[in-house]
Amino acid sequence: MKILITAGPTREPLDPVRYLTNRSSGKMGYAIADAAAAANHHVTLISGPSNEEVPDGIDYIPVETAEEMYHAVQNYIGKMDAAIFAAAVSDYRPASIAEQKIKKTEDTLTLELVKNPDILGSARSKFSYQGVLVGFAAETENVESNARAKLMRKQCDLVIANDVSRKDIGFDSNENELLLVYPQTTESIPKADKHHLAHIIIEKVTDLQPK
Ligand code: PMT
Repeated sequence: MKILITAGPTREPLDPVRYLTNRSSGKMGYAIADAAAAANHHVTLISGPSNEEVPDGIDYIPVETAEEMYHAVQNYIGKMDAAIFAAAVSDYRPASIAEQKIKKTEDTLTLELVKNPDILGSARSKFSYQGVLVGFAAETENVESNARAKLMRKQCDLVIANDVSRKDIGFDSNENELLLVYPQTTESIPKADKHHLAHIIIEKVTDLQPK
């Protein structure tokens, strides 16, 4: 299969030296890319900034901002059999980027943010993508019901939910614990190393491929 994977955080610049980002390390997405390549799939990894090692033998597309990730996904997704969105994309970016470093003149500073494009949400509706579509859901409460709402809204075949309120799993941890939310069923995958979970994810994604 040809599999597209998004990974890592995005960085949304504020001025030449500052940006808004989040705690995603890229570990989950890179582990999935590694597992997919090990299973002989053709992998395209579109990633925000990460210190993880890029797996051998894959197509690697580095990006910084959500808009760059949006355009990269738009360019590649049409050729894919499956797409797995593990990136933690900033939902908002600064409305404008200051040309010079912002000076600390006032006691308070108000930032205006504008919405970024919803990349996963665009796969079916804007990119007319027909392959297997897998989203992640980073939740801090009502994990299953929030993930199920995302599954329906973004027309996914599977949403992989993780509880990011926990320190021992999720963001920037070597381990994770997953809830696989399908249109008709839900399956729990107990806490394990992200590399072990990545192999399970690739098996489940392969099972979703029409025979
Ligand atoms: O990178 P690690 O440190 O290993 O951490 C892993 C992880 C916690 C980042 C990962 O397991 C995870 O949960 N990734 C999704 C993070 C996220 O942004 O979730 P969300 O619930 O806000 O978004 C839902 C889905 O829409 C995700 O598939 C996301 O990639 C996608 N999305 C979100 C916003 C946006 N503008 N475009 C998107 O494509």
